[in-house]
Amino acid sequence: MITGATRLAGVIGDPVRHSLSPAIHNAAFAACGLDWVYVALPVPAGEGGAAVRAMRALGIEGLSVTMPHKADVAGAVDELTPVARTLGVCNCLYRRGDRIVGHSTDGDGFVAAFETRFGRAPAGLRFLVVGAGGAARSIVEALGRAGAASIVVANRSPDRAAEVAALAAVATTGRLGDREAVAAADAVVNATSLGMEGGPEPGAVPVPIEALRPDHLVVDIVYEPRVTPLLAAAEAIGADAADGVGMLIGQAALSFELWTGVAAPLEAMTRAALGPPS
Ligand SMILES: NC(=O)c1ccc[n+]([C@@H]2O[C@H](COP(=O)([O-])OP(=O)(O)OC[C@H]3O[C@@H](n4cnc5c(N)ncnc54)[C@H](OP(=O)(O)O)[C@@H]3O)[C@@H](O)[C@H]2O)c1
Repeated sequence: MITGATRLAGVIGDPVRHSLSPAIHNAAFAACGLDWVYVALPVPAGEGGAAVRAMRALGIEGLSVTMPHKADVAGAVDELTPVARTLGVCNCLYRRGDRIVGHSTDGDGFVAAFETRFGRAPAGLRFLVVGAGGAARSIVEALGRAGAASIVVANRSPDRAAEVAALAAVATTGRLGDREAVAAADAVVNATSLGMEGGPEPGAVPVPIEALRPDHLVVDIVYEPRVTPLLAAAEAIGADAADGVGMLIGQAALSFELWTGVAAPLEAMTRAALGPPS
């Protein structure tokens, strides 16, 4: 029941009505018995700074931030964490006393999900990350901190790949479609929007699948559909393949813990993201 004591969190973005975050976070609050509620707040482009001021004025405890506000809010908070400063974007705002702190949980959420799903840390592994958008930036930066042995960043636009590779000392750039880059990797990550429902080039696979081996760890961060063409190809040859729901939950769990100080109930959050069994 919502009462005068209920605490408020939410997600700002445009569009945001389709977001899975309300289902995930409200399930987490319920599982932990917390008197909190999480809502989707449509905020038009250019109003990210106003939303940060509103967070302060309204006493909102925490905000998730999605497109198009991730960079805008970074310029409007009182303080940025080192990760948010490096990336220049925030996906999570939390309060520390009177101050509003901007942070990014995407990269560490990816690493946490990788560890949970594969039962091993990225430390010492050789990664091929395909893509150089916002998600790839977070992932490469976090893999660098997590001690990856090497990271090859391959992207359609090579200039963007170089910018992303600059975020980790062990990262270099590669060529999209290069079989040798796949062969030389322990783990292959799709961080492009290829494979996404309603995304570019339906059915296209972002890596040369003929170079995949059964011992590859494969992650597709796209989570709609859950089984992308890359994951289907990886599973067909017996490779261990993880979908994007893990990263989605990983980043949400870290935000939840910053807001509430309570350990995130991962199972309840995952069930909420997946919806009722079909
Ligand atoms: N699981 C999660 O928690 C999570 C979190 C964030 C994002 N995602 C998913 O990850 C995907 C990327 O998100 P983002 O925010 O990084 O997007 P973004 O910033 O728009 O980047 C898109 C990336 O996809 C590449 N790309 C687009 N169309 C392509 C094509 N036809 N051929 C080859 N490459 C193409 C772009 O290459 P260019 O640089 O050459 O344009 C770029 O590298 C989306 O599907 C998103 O839903 C998942």
